Amino acid sequence: MSDNGSRTPATLEMGDNRRAELPILSGSIGPDVIDIRKLYGGTGCFTYDPGFTSTAACRSKITYIDGDEGVLLHRGYRIEDLAEKSDFLEVAYLILFGDLPTAAQKAEFVHGVTYHTMVNEQIINLMRGFRRDAHPMAVMIAMVGALSAFYHEDLDINDPHNRLIATYRLVAKIPTIASLAYKYSVGQPFIYPQNHLNYAENFLHMMFAVPCEPYRVDPVLAKALDKIFILHADHEQNASTSTVRLVGSTGASPYAAISAGIASLWGPAHGGANEAVVQMLAEIGSVERIPDFIRRAKDKDDPFRLMGFGHRVYKNYDPRAGVLKSSADQVLDLLGQKDNPKLAIAKELEKIALEDEYFRDRKLFPNVDFYSGIILEAMKIPTSMFTAIFALARTVGWAAQWNEMIEDPEQKIGRPRQLYVGPPERAFVPIEQRG
Ligand code: CMC
Repeated sequence: MSDNGSRTPATLEMGDNRRAELPILSGSIGPDVIDIRKLYGGTGCFTYDPGFTSTAACRSKITYIDGDEGVLLHRGYRIEDLAEKSDFLEVAYLILFGDLPTAAQKAEFVHGVTYHTMVNEQIINLMRGFRRDAHPMAVMIAMVGALSAFYHEDLDINDPHNRLIATYRLVAKIPTIASLAYKYSVGQPFIYPQNHLNYAENFLHMMFAVPCEPYRVDPVLAKALDKIFILHADHEQNASTSTVRLVGSTGASPYAAISAGIASLWGPAHGGANEAVVQMLAEIGSVERIPDFIRRAKDKDDPFRLMGFGHRVYKNYDPRAGVLKSSADQVLDLLGQKDNPKLAIAKELEKIALEDEYFRDRKLFPNVDFYSGIILEAMKIPTSMFTAIFALARTVGWAAQWNEMIEDPEQKIGRPRQLYVGPPERAFVPIEQRG
């Protein structure tokens, strides 16, 4: 700290008389950042950080993670409190607008989301072009991207009102799109949204109702699903959120940006892990086989990784995994599946891994995907929909981060640089002279 109270800048000496003074910026909590924006202009050098392990790409007020302590805050509130005491649309409001809503604000928001849930019938026609066995994530990427063809002409993204309408549309229509993708995959008639149901109930109804008989949504399942939605609502600058910001930074339609986010989420290193965890637990099959899989996870010559374990930011227990672990116990108990073999394998796997030097040394703990799939499977949600549900819940986070980026006066088109290691300039050789 200098005498006048401002931070003393970091000084970079390069040994060849190149020197840069780099301001240090402090957030409200969390590590300081070194502002390198003038580094290239001052020294002619870029920084090198594949995978962005040490790079803050933006300022954000939405979500804070302390990976060493295993803390996750949305707008300052602990995820454990939100999961326990709130509901998804209230958390969505918080993430989008910065504060918990008053009763009147909440009622208005819930009404706004509820009355935007239908999709244009042409979306349903588009969906009919897919093969029945298309993965729901592939369908969702296309359908959310296609929304930009329906809501493009009046979408000036610099107009806050237009951005708000786009945000409502995205949060409201994503459960409809996800459930349409599921219904199409099983060849059942599409079920339209019902305005008397809440967000999670409506999704379960659209997933499981059929026109030939009444369907009663189980409030216990709806509550458990609502909690899963809360736990997945946002997670600061992860791969899919950074994708949304990068696409959005070009001025592209928010529907296109969020479609790209869904594509990014699909990978098994990211949101696709919840599907992979359940497949892994099925492959393990019994508690006795766990040591063999632990051995494989540690073997550098074996590509197998313990799915649902490890995280770029958490070097402690992912707080979302903690909430989901107790939620799994409650939900399976209520569903009469107390002795669910996958839950037993998961708990034993966690216990053995956490006692193992390899996992302890690398600070590998269960992440959000480790227990979520077990709950979803117990609720009869097909495995192929797990990542779609993650995408559904994360849409609010993507929309909030996109809005924040557009409103940020420091926002620029995202454009990383590179360390070029290809051939230097060379002369073109005509084909007949190439040996
Ligand atoms: N099983 C076995 N070893 C692992 C695992 C794992 N799941 N995760 C990391 N490691 C090892 C890795 O081999 C490396 O060892 P070494 O230092 O000896 O080379 C060390 O731990 C560090 O791993 P990394 O790959 O450099 O770490 P990262 O920050 O680049 O990757 C991760 C983070 C989440 C991609 C990775 O832990 C992983 O692949 N986990 C399994 C997939 C998964 O569960 N993904 C969901 C993430 S949370 C939800 C979300 O993002 O959507």
